[in-house]
Amino acid sequence: MSAELRGKTALVTGGTSGIGRAVVEHLAEVGMQVAFCGRDAERGASVAAASGASFIRSDATDRDDCDRSVEQAASLLGGRLDLFVGCAAMIFAAPLGSTPEPIFRELVEVNLTATFRYSRACFEVMRRQGRGVITHVVSDAALRGIHHIPAYSVTKAGVLALSETLAAEAAPHGVRVNAICPGAVFPGMQTTPEGYEHHAEDASTWGSAPSGRHGTGRDVSNAVLWLASEAAAHVSGATLRLDGAAGVATRGVSRA
Ligand SMILES: NC(=O)c1ccc[n+]([C@@H]2O[C@H](COP(=O)([O-])OP(=O)(O)OC[C@H]3O[C@@H](n4cnc5c(N)ncnc54)[C@H](OP(=O)(O)O)[C@@H]3O)[C@@H](O)[C@H]2O)c1
Repeated sequence: MSAELRGKTALVTGGTSGIGRAVVEHLAEVGMQVAFCGRDAERGASVAAASGASFIRSDATDRDDCDRSVEQAASLLGGRLDLFVGCAAMIFAAPLGSTPEPIFRELVEVNLTATFRYSRACFEVMRRQGRGVITHVVSDAALRGIHHIPAYSVTKAGVLALSETLAAEAAPHGVRVNAICPGAVFPGMQTTPEGYEHHAEDASTWGSAPSGRHGTGRDVSNAVLWLASEAAAHVSGATLRLDGAAGVATRGVSRA
């Protein structure tokens, strides 16, 4: 799976942190040429130094930045774009009744509208090539609204619909589009409209799924690699739940 991806090209949004960083590092490790986006120049430089990938500083709330980043990535990567991974997002934890409208709008802008913009621009490059893979890192919150993160859940449900509808449009052009829906991935999302939140470094303080553990960035990057590979050649419009069975567990009832 990895060998066939060597030399192929990828653009990853949200590559400066967490899951996106893990994806950038894994793709680079298997020999792909990778460009990644984010706002934070210091973290971008650190990921670039660790992986050899190219950092493109961009703010997903800026429409021109999104289009420019895709153009810059295609140019840095020799004119081809084999894979786009949409990972950039932010979270806001408050009941809907206490969610200020500007914050709701910002989440829609970053999580949904920017994913639309990047995907549309990448699809245009891939349509011309006659092949390509788009993978959206969504969330289990898209599959069932999670009550303490309602604004985030709404945006992620939108990204899932974007993924499915683009898959149908893109399939005749040789482009596959899929969604990965992780459950809780340690150390959790850090990016909020109010800045970065830092969570406990100790994984043992995290709840786990029925599989007995929380997810990792590597779990997600493994799924990204599989979806990009020929083994997934007929997989498009799919939603891959990646949560160690947390979403299908029977709550409060032991079946032992
Ligand atoms: N961690 C989890 O438990 C979990 C579970 C399910 C799904 N997910 C999904 O996985 C993805 C990554 O989550 P994570 O845990 O890695 O979160 P994270 O550590 O907070 O990383 C978020 C990334 O998004 C980028 N980003 C945020 N706002 C941006 C903006 N305006 N412009 C450009 N980039 C922006 C950040 O880059 P800069 O700050 O450098 O701009 C950062 O690289 C998200 O789509 C999230 O919804 C996470």
